[in-house]
Amino acid sequence: MSDGPGKCRPLNIQKNGTFSPEDLKEIRNVMRNKYAEISISSAGRFQYPTGRDGAKALGYDPDIIKSAAPGFLESFCGVGNPFSLGEIQNGEVVLDFGCGAGFDLFVASRLVSETGRVCGVDLTEEMVKRAKLNLASAHVSNVEIKKVDSEDIPYADHTFDVVISNGVINLSPAKNVSFREIYRVLKSGGRFQFADVVSENELPADLTGSLEAWSQ
Ligand SMILES: C[S@@+](CC[C@H](N)C(=O)[O-])C[C@H]1O[C@@H](n2cnc3c(N)ncnc32)[C@H](O)[C@@H]1O
Repeated sequence: MSDGPGKCRPLNIQKNGTFSPEDLKEIRNVMRNKYAEISISSAGRFQYPTGRDGAKALGYDPDIIKSAAPGFLESFCGVGNPFSLGEIQNGEVVLDFGCGAGFDLFVASRLVSETGRVCGVDLTEEMVKRAKLNLASAHVSNVEIKKVDSEDIPYADHTFDVVISNGVINLSPAKNVSFREIYRVLKSGGRFQFADVVSENELPADLTGSLEAWSQ
């Protein structure tokens, strides 16, 4: 981790822009530790509105927000609204890449209805547990969730009509693999509807290319 108070641990970025296996492991561990805490609550953890207020500010359907059990929203930390980018139809098969505590899974399950299916993958064990609990207590039966250890998506080629993702791609230390995998699991003509963040300003020099940049 960090070399000491106030010091950042530099990462060894390879010539082709990728990280060493050791750095990939450390980046994922730093991220998992952060999101394990957020699986309890996202309140006060981000510079943008999260939880129920965040969902309202991002324009999610007020009826769906009202009908969602509090557990779905307590840890919600989406940065946008992937459902505003295109309609999802009854009967479609949807993947949420980085599903967190499951609010977007809940929304998608309502849109595809009982004739459709929704799958979620997440890197953080605690988020997966929280999402499973949330879905079970809401009696949602058309959703399944898998814990993953990397950007590899544990589904066959051409499985999904739509892949959604909300604030996850920026966290991936292997973005090329994320995009390749998402493309692989989409059906021909499938849609990728994602919301994410980009930095408009340069990071402070000591933070650029450091492990700590991934846990901010
Ligand atoms: C910003 S949260 C978004 C969670 C959820 N979409 C929401 O809106 O509340 C990011 C989530 O992505 C997960 N994550 C980060 N990188 C991932 C990856 N490569 N594959 C799967 N999940 C990942 C984290 O564990 C965390 O739960």
